[in-house]
Amino acid sequence: MEKKRILTGDRPTGRLHLGHYVGSLANRVRLQDSYECYFIIADLHTLTTKAEKDSIEAICENARQMVADYLACGIDPSKAVIYLQSAVHEVYEMNLFFEMLITVPRLQRLPSLKDMAKSANLAEMPFGLLGYPVLQAADILMPRAHLVPVGKDNEAHVELTREIARRFNNLYGEVFPIPDVMVGDVPTLVGTDGDAKMSKSLGNAILLSDDERTVAKKVKGMYTDPNRIRADIPGRVEGNPVFIYHDAFNRDVEEVADLKRRYREGAVGDVEVKRKLTDAINEFLNPIRERRAMIEAKSGYVDEVLFDGTVRMREVARQTLVDMKKAMGITGIWNRISRKAEQARKRSERGGKA
Ligand code: TRP
Repeated sequence: MEKKRILTGDRPTGRLHLGHYVGSLANRVRLQDSYECYFIIADLHTLTTKAEKDSIEAICENARQMVADYLACGIDPSKAVIYLQSAVHEVYEMNLFFEMLITVPRLQRLPSLKDMAKSANLAEMPFGLLGYPVLQAADILMPRAHLVPVGKDNEAHVELTREIARRFNNLYGEVFPIPDVMVGDVPTLVGTDGDAKMSKSLGNAILLSDDERTVAKKVKGMYTDPNRIRADIPGRVEGNPVFIYHDAFNRDVEEVADLKRRYREGAVGDVEVKRKLTDAINEFLNPIRERRAMIEAKSGYVDEVLFDGTVRMREVARQTLVDMKKAMGITGIWNRISRKAEQARKRSERGGKA
C-alpha cells in the first residue's frame, strides 16, 4: 500500500529550541518511516512580518541552521524531503487560487495573525500577513498531505487548510485529502521565565544546539514556584516550569516522582531539582549535539540536502498544479484559445498560398 504523506515545517528564524522538539520534531522523527515526509523551510512566510532586504539576506544562514537541527534530531534525508519554499514556484500560483476560497472575516478572526502583527510591532495588518494561513494551506496541500504535525499555535491554520481543501473539492472535484492535525505531547512548552511559550525572540528558550554550560546557566536562572522562598516550604509542582521540563525531558521517571514528592513536602531545594534537570536535558541533548557536530564537519552537506530535497519537491509540486488546474478548468481556457489560434493560422496560411 502507498504510504500516507506528512507535510510540516518551520519559518527559518534560526536555531530550533526544546519547544520545537516536543511540539513537532519528536513526532516527525517518530513518523518518518511510516509516512512519506515533506519538511518545508517556509522562508516566504517570514516575509509576512519582515520584508526588508536585511531579513531576506539572513534567510540563507537561518535555513542552514534549521536543516542542521532537523538532521541532528534524527531526520533522515534519504527518507524525508526537506525543501526551500521560495524555490518551488508552484506555491505562489497555488496560493492565488486558494485566496478565492476563503473570506477576509474568516482570516481576520484568527488570533495567531493578530499576535504575529503585534510581536512584529506592526500597527496594521499587511495583506500578506492576513494571507499567511492561505499560503500555509498551499504548503500543506502541495504534496497532498494527510497529516500535519505542528505545535498548538498552528492548529487553527490546519483547520483552515481543511476548509480550503473541502471547498476546493466541492467546487472542482476530489483533488486533495482533508489533512489531520497532530499536536505533540507538550503542545506548548513554557519558557524558562515561566512565560506561556518558549520563543527565541522572548529570550526564554533552550536551544537544541546549546552546549552543556549554557544549559546549566539557563536552568539555574529558571522560574520556579515564586511562593517558595525557602527549601523547607512545601512547593507547587503543577504548572511549575522546572517540573514541566522534568516531565518532558527526564527519562528517569522514578527520579522525577521522587523530586515531586519531596518538593511538595518541602524536603528538597531548588538547587537539587535544577541540577538534576540540567543533567537530564544535557543527556537528552547529547546525541543531538553529536550528530550536529558530524553534520557541521561535512562542509556543504546541509546545502546538498536542501538542494536535493527542493529538486524532488519541484516535481511533486508540478504534478499537483497540473491536476489542480485541470480540475478547475484553468488549463482548458488556454488550450482552447491556442487550438483555435493554430487552426486560424493554418487556414490563413492555406488561404495565402491559394
Ligand atoms: N506556520 C509555521 C510556523 O509557525 C510554519 C509553516 C509554514 C508550516 N508552512 C507550514 C507549518 C506548513 C506546517 C505546515 O513557523
